[in-house]
Amino acid sequence: MAKSRLTESERQQLIETATQALESAYAPYSQFRVGAAVLTTGGKIFAGCNVENASYGLSMCAERNAIANAIIGAGKDTIKIEAIAVTNSKQVSCSPCGACRQVIWEFGQDAEVIFWGDEGWQSSTIKELLPQGFSL
Ligand code: THU
Repeated sequence: MAKSRLTESERQQLIETATQALESAYAPYSQFRVGAAVLTTGGKIFAGCNVENASYGLSMCAERNAIANAIIGAGKDTIKIEAIAVTNSKQVSCSPCGACRQVIWEFGQDAEVIFWGDEGWQSSTIKELLPQGFSL
């Protein structure tokens, strides 16, 4: 497990926010409800859930919705992701998909990623999950 900069209380709050967020998921097609929560370097937490569409490819992941929410919440300041937690209603191992990894990378190249994995909650860095992420 990667060494965390988060306090135990921040970690718990992040996991709790992600777990609550999955209750809001709109996932009538996959029935796979996902919740995510972003902790910014400014100490604020923002939630997101997956939102699906009858045109399947338009569905949006919980992680990217949480990041969009953080961008709105941060106002004019550019956000930086300290950590992001993600969980799902099926309690199956689920780390962020490839597209979400690249979006996490955009806003936090040192971000910690907390997800429900094979042995319960586990942590990685975004660098471990996305080696050589794309930057311009
Ligand atoms: N999903 C997420 O929200 N995050 C992930 O990291 C993986 C997949 C959603 C997208 C879709 O609504 C459902 O899970 C099934 O793929």
